[in-house]
Amino acid sequence: MTDHYAVIGNPVEHSLSPAIHAEFARATGQDIAYGTILAPLDGFRAAALAFRNGAGRGLNVTLPFKQEAWRLADTHSAGARAAGAVNTLKFEDGRIAGHNTDGVGLARDLKDNLGCTIRGRRVLLMGAGGAVYGVMEPLLRELPQLVVIANRTLEKAVAVVGHFEALQKFASHGVSARTYAALAGSRFDIVVNATSAGLADVMPPLPRDIFAPGALAYEMVYGRQTLFMRFATENGARAVDGLGMLVEQAAESFFIWRGVRPATRPVIDMLRKA
Ligand code: ATR
Repeated sequence: MTDHYAVIGNPVEHSLSPAIHAEFARATGQDIAYGTILAPLDGFRAAALAFRNGAGRGLNVTLPFKQEAWRLADTHSAGARAAGAVNTLKFEDGRIAGHNTDGVGLARDLKDNLGCTIRGRRVLLMGAGGAVYGVMEPLLRELPQLVVIANRTLEKAVAVVGHFEALQKFASHGVSARTYAALAGSRFDIVVNATSAGLADVMPPLPRDIFAPGALAYEMVYGRQTLFMRFATENGARAVDGLGMLVEQAAESFFIWRGVRPATRPVIDMLRKA
């Protein structure tokens, strides 16, 4: 019997997840169907439970429902607890397990696809919203030399640091919060733009000399050249978009559901060509 999965969000119609999971299923021989569910803004819980009661086995959860998905889950993985949000639900034995695969997706894309070592490097994360909470724990586990969170509203960056204080043992020089202005004179090896996805055409005020030699500029948005990517290229960094993170987080969800790890490179290549 075919097992059913879906991505639930609002909006959701342009999601690449159905294409990614269809390709994973084909490549691994798993008998699954994967669709999309457009839930009303006030109707996440009802839509998710209706899908489960109709024999759905799991959901990917996208904006704006990741916090609600946390509340729906009966159990939470360590990654979900660190993020305070859930992007993957697994329905099994009458219980709902909540996971968060976003951060693992970023760490895998950096290390495995982009050949970018995180260990011992200086990392700058721009933004202090859900996207940053999602990626912090897996990044810290890679033992960067330091992580700086830069945000327009400093208090929100300070709150991120406070939330992850318990994990600072993973960063040898710790985690700190700064305004963009206070970045002057600092250099980073990895700079991640985790400001809201809709900001592709707004550029946080970064100093031009923020990139260390050989730096990687990572844009969480995918599918187009953003202002941040252009800025990074103009200032000597290698700029990449977040397509690899999207495919890697999907692969981790697929693994949680099916116990099988699909190859990601062919899917990234396929989507780049599409
Ligand atoms: P998400 O869940 O996608 O991270 P969010 O919680 O709304 O979204 O967070 C959006 C992030 O983008 C915030 O860090 C926000 O900065 P503030 O905390 O100062 O609002 C950041 N952001 C939004 N507009 C921005 C802009 N024009 N320049 C710089 N940062 C911006």
